[in-house]
Amino acid sequence: MTECADSHWPSNSSPLGYSWPQISALVPSSILEVVRGSLFIVSWDEAFGDRYEEWSSHMTADVNFYVELALEADGPLVELAVGNGRVAVPVAKATGQRVIGLDTSARMLVQARARAVEAGVELDLRQVDMRDLVLDEPAGLIYCPFRALLHLRTWADRRRTFERVAASLRQDGRFAWNAFAFDHRVAARFGGNHQDEPVPHTVEYSVGDNRIDITLDGGAKSSLWWATKNEWIGLLDVAGLEVDALYSGFSGEPFADDSQEYVFIGRHRAPAAQP
Ligand SMILES: C[S@@+](CC[C@H](N)C(=O)[O-])C[C@H]1O[C@@H](n2cnc3c(N)ncnc32)[C@H](O)[C@@H]1O
Repeated sequence: MTECADSHWPSNSSPLGYSWPQISALVPSSILEVVRGSLFIVSWDEAFGDRYEEWSSHMTADVNFYVELALEADGPLVELAVGNGRVAVPVAKATGQRVIGLDTSARMLVQARARAVEAGVELDLRQVDMRDLVLDEPAGLIYCPFRALLHLRTWADRRRTFERVAASLRQDGRFAWNAFAFDHRVAARFGGNHQDEPVPHTVEYSVGDNRIDITLDGGAKSSLWWATKNEWIGLLDVAGLEVDALYSGFSGEPFADDSQEYVFIGRHRAPAAQP
């Protein structure tokens, strides 16, 4: 059983009510794999990583946005789902600070390590599920680019991640991420259709499960579960955070009814004024 596969199993509980170590001690590993496969949808196929460079090559507009936030932050910088270091490397370069990067994918972390070496910057890369974020020192900025929070399948996964973020942020720290807003017109245009760019693939929409499945021609699959504006704000709320800013783009464009991207910045909720 790989560390990466383990990361999709909640670390402090299981659907059977036993802790993971208790179950591991009792049940043969071959059976566990079958049980785990039927209960958890793995949302990032390792083979997706082989084409990630091409897949993400068009996405450059977000880099400066996250770099600017990092330059304004005091304290450690943390990227959730760091992938191949596409954003973390420029952040480390611009700030001169070590960036902690979490990801469940061993293959993506290998790419991030190589990119950091090539750029001559230091990334502190950890094969850790973002739901299990724990830091030695509170962070000045925690950020999650390229819609990666959408790899978290359930409200519970997201709530737990937001709570871990809140517990790991400095009092003046900020949490930034972007995610697409579901648009039925986009779904009608692309759903079920094969596309050649940026990498040959097909997108399927499962509206009932608010899920998009992206399947590359070679078979590698990645799933994303979209969320509404109120869900994002609710997640901040239950974690003791609040909206610092909501844009529709990386240049601070105002968010409006027809916006297609949430670009959120959260912070700790201001204490209520005393009567
Ligand atoms: C779309 S890529 C984003 C990578 C990078 N942040 C970027 O902007 O290019 C999604 C990444 O999320 C990672 N991932 C998916 N679920 C995760 C989880 N629960 N915890 C940490 N990383 C996760 C995948 O392994 C993959 O590297």
